[in-house]
Amino acid sequence: MTSQKDPARRGSERMSNSSFRGMQFLFKVIDFVYPYIDKRVQSFGIRPGITVVDYGCGPSRYTSRFAHLVGEKGRVFAVDIHELVIEAVKKRIEKQGLKTVTPILARGYDSGIPDDVANITCAIDMFFAINDPTTFLKELRRITGPEGFLIIDDGHQSRKETKRKIAASGYWEVMEETKDHLRCKPLSVA
Ligand SMILES: C[S@@+](CC[C@H](N)C(=O)[O-])C[C@H]1O[C@@H](n2cnc3c(N)ncnc32)[C@H](O)[C@@H]1O
Repeated sequence: MTSQKDPARRGSERMSNSSFRGMQFLFKVIDFVYPYIDKRVQSFGIRPGITVVDYGCGPSRYTSRFAHLVGEKGRVFAVDIHELVIEAVKKRIEKQGLKTVTPILARGYDSGIPDDVANITCAIDMFFAINDPTTFLKELRRITGPEGFLIIDDGHQSRKETKRKIAASGYWEVMEETKDHLRCKPLSVA
């Protein structure tokens, strides 16, 4: 059994194993009944050959779509704080032959991804659950290249709250808003 001292388990953001299984099942049902993701990812600006980070990837429903959009010459990092999520991602990679996807188990707010790697970093349906938004956004800023951008959504919080947290961090500037997400550019930090 993993100890609570393990940094990957610190903080209330890491859901229980049963919650993860519930989420996995629920997403399957939602995607079957309402297959909106395929349309949604088209608005992210993902092109062949680029590097995308799917931060808080969950059962990798976005990850696999990102992999198809970046193609053979692109790369996708699938990051999550939950070991079962990463196991599920590995299974999907194997099953679907997603050779360009690298699964990563984050330790706290540390993904271990090299600096400035991402052209696009995505944090979908997870920012609302982050206890320390500034440290989290700092990590997203670190891994995203200066010309890259962040796609982030509200999840279970108001748009006002999402924007307040982003502005307070000092790491990102909102460039564009849609009903579904915000597109942010990285700010230069000393
Ligand atoms: C509601 S799920 C959304 C999954 C996926 N983005 C989607 O929309 O299908 C939120 C995910 O974020 C992950 N998560 C929460 N806090 C995290 C953190 N600090 N670092 C990485 N992943 C995190 C959870 O483990 C969970 O898998």
